[in-house]
Amino acid sequence: MKTLLKAEHITQRFGGLVAVSDVSMEVGEHQIVGIIGPNGAGKTTFFNIITGLYTPTEGRVLFNDRDITGLKPYKVTDLGLARTFQNIRLFGDMTALENTMVGMHTRTGTTVLDAIFRTKKHHEEEKQCEEKAKEYLHQTGLYEYRYWLAKSLPYGLQRRLEIARAMASRPQILLLDEPAAGMNEQETADLMGFIEELQGMGYTITLIEHDMKLVMNVCEDIYVLDHGELIAHGAPSSIQSNPRVIEAYLGKEA
Ligand SMILES: Nc1ncnc2c1ncn2[C@@H]1O[C@H](COP(=O)(O)OP(=O)(O)OP(=O)(O)O)[C@@H](O)[C@H]1O
Ligand SMILES: [Mg+2]
Repeated sequence: MKTLLKAEHITQRFGGLVAVSDVSMEVGEHQIVGIIGPNGAGKTTFFNIITGLYTPTEGRVLFNDRDITGLKPYKVTDLGLARTFQNIRLFGDMTALENTMVGMHTRTGTTVLDAIFRTKKHHEEEKQCEEKAKEYLHQTGLYEYRYWLAKSLPYGLQRRLEIARAMASRPQILLLDEPAAGMNEQETADLMGFIEELQGMGYTITLIEHDMKLVMNVCEDIYVLDHGELIAHGAPSSIQSNPRVIEAYLGKEA
């Protein structure tokens, strides 16, 4: 299996706080990999480093063997990594279709001038964008909602729309930050099936999630963070019975 994404010895300090401490991770092509851990473990920070929002204090990020450490987020997106956010970041007053088209922006060949003067080229590309966006909405089960404002969609569908928008940048890998957050049991079950469909479409997926049922069912490989440190890594069965993992979760509850 080809390694698509590799994080090497990543450390992220914020002043005196070590949010991520010497974490390494590998994601193979077409894998579904999970990152779990209690609140504040450093999961989102790790995603932020991979996607260029932060330049790590130490360590490197490699994508397709290319060093992408510290590249600007839009460059990282251009190279084929797309993400969703833990706190939904849709344009509430735009339709599902428009939100998806926003995700395609970096892929069009039109210039600002083409847009200002509404050239024929611009018009044709808009049309193509729209057709393509409809395809992503279809794939995410949102086609019938294409003209709904994002803010009027049920929560579970907003989370799906975030994924549709991420797909619109034509990524190789999708990084999903708590895709099931706020979903009811049925929505979560649907999402599980959908994530497996995404894998079937050829996507590689890395997801952060608190819903253990989802993680244990769809991820073939799991990384566990606690207080910024990687405390376990392996198949779901080994993670479930790992004493350090159990302690990290129980310790937080106490
Ligand atoms: N930009 C920042 N500046 C300072 N501290 C930060 C910053 N981003 C995150 N942190 C801190 O780093 C630690 C890890 O936060 P992070 O959001 O990565 O955790 P998480 O594992 O995603 O948690 P959750 O499950 O609650 O989403 C926390 O203590 C957080 O307060
Ligand atoms: Mg988080």
